[in-house]
Amino acid sequence: MASLKPLIEEARIAARVRELGAQIRAEHGDEAITLIAVLKGSFLFLADLARAIPGDVRVEFLGVSSYHGGTESSGVVRITHDLRGQIDGRHVIVVEDIVDTGRTIDYLVKMLGVRSPASLKVASLLDKPSRREIPVTVDYVGFTIPDAFVVGYGLDLGELYRNLPYVAVYEP
Ligand code: PRP
Repeated sequence: MASLKPLIEEARIAARVRELGAQIRAEHGDEAITLIAVLKGSFLFLADLARAIPGDVRVEFLGVSSYHGGTESSGVVRITHDLRGQIDGRHVIVVEDIVDTGRTIDYLVKMLGVRSPASLKVASLLDKPSRREIPVTVDYVGFTIPDAFVVGYGLDLGELYRNLPYVAVYEP
């Protein structure tokens, strides 16, 4: 029987997101910040992080698919929906739910970097460094986690569990 073991409870996520929001604002002065949500997994983190950063914050959405329903990365990054707005001259933070092999964020940082943002940083709720295949810089990490398959707070398994308000380890 599959089971879900709570890993990061709701209150810890909320507290950490508030800290990250304050840190991001402190490091950007009163500049406008453009958060780019990498869909779908980051939608809840984006919603909470945007509200934790005071001042001028804009949001853009980028549709990306790399896992295709399984528990292993296919290694192929596919853009399913591009940004609506321009990011040249903007202070951009790419918002991810998890950095695993690093392939997705490596691809996105290169893709967005050529669009001439004033600065380009990465925020990820979760970081799983033990699985890294490509070295990437994650400027703002919510939680570093062990090599377990996690779901909840945006993360799915076959589209299920994104709505869990906490992060859990999925054990088949
Ligand atoms: C997940 C996650 C990251 C990526 C991380 O996306 O949201 O974008 O995989 O893995 P990597 O570091 O090994 O590239 P997924 O393809 O599962 O899509 P989803 O966000 O729509 O669930």
